[in-house]
Amino acid sequence: MKDSYTKRDALQALGAGAAFVAAGSLFGTLPAFAAEKSTTPTSKEDKTMTTITLPPLPYASNALEPHIGKQTVEIHHGKHQKAYVDKTNELIKGTDLEGKSLEEIIKASAKDSSKAVLFNNAAQAWNHIVYWDNMKANGGGKPSGDVLAKIEADFGSYDKFVEEFKANGLTQFGSGWVWLVLDNGKLKITKTANADNPVAHGQVAVLGVDVWEHAYYLDYQNRRVDYLSTFLDHLVNWDYAAKAIKG
Ligand SMILES: [Fe+2]
Repeated sequence: MKDSYTKRDALQALGAGAAFVAAGSLFGTLPAFAAEKSTTPTSKEDKTMTTITLPPLPYASNALEPHIGKQTVEIHHGKHQKAYVDKTNELIKGTDLEGKSLEEIIKASAKDSSKAVLFNNAAQAWNHIVYWDNMKANGGGKPSGDVLAKIEADFGSYDKFVEEFKANGLTQFGSGWVWLVLDNGKLKITKTANADNPVAHGQVAVLGVDVWEHAYYLDYQNRRVDYLSTFLDHLVNWDYAAKAIKG
C-alpha cells in the first residue's frame, strides 16, 4: 500500500511547526553572522534599529534537486528559518543583546534558562546558515586533500566517518542536528536535540545536517537514513568543511 502520508499532510505539518515557533515554543560552528543596521527605519525612534537578517540562499531554490526539492528548500528557508530570525529580533529588541551577533546571542542565552526561547530561535537561525552553506549542487562523495587526511587521522578512515555520521543522525531521537565538529583540534561527530548547537559547547561546526522532519519529509518521508546518505554522497560542500577546519 502506498504511503498514506501525502504531500498535503506534510505541508500542513510544516505550517503547524512554523506557527509553533512564532508562538515562542521550543523545537528542535561557523559563519560570523553579524547583525546589520537596518536601512529602512520604521519610525523616528527606530533610526538606529539593529536587526539580525535572513541571509539569502547561496544557490537557487531548485539547485539541490533531485535530492532536496525546491518546495522543501523554499518552505524551509522562507518560512522556518525566517520565523527563527523574526522571533530572535522580536526577543532582543530593546535589550542589551540588540545589535549583537547571532553567535554572541547564542553564547549569552545558552546557559540561562530564562532565555530558553531566545536561545532556541537564535540557535536555529544560525544552524540553518551552516546547513545551507555546507551543501551545494553536485557536491558530496569522498573528499580529498587536507580534509580527507584530517578525517582519516581522526576517524581511522572515511568509511568509519560515514558510518558514525549516519549512526548519530539516525539515533537522534526526534528533532535535532548531526554535526561534524572540531573540538580542541580534533574532529568529532555529535548530535544535538532541537536547536542546541556547537557554539553553545565551544566547538567549531565543520558540517551540520538538519534532522528535523521539516528538512526531509516531503522528499524522503520517514527515510531519514536515505536523506543522510544523500547528503554525504551528493550534497556536502567539502570546500566549506575545509575552510571551517582551517579556521
Ligand atoms: Fe530546519
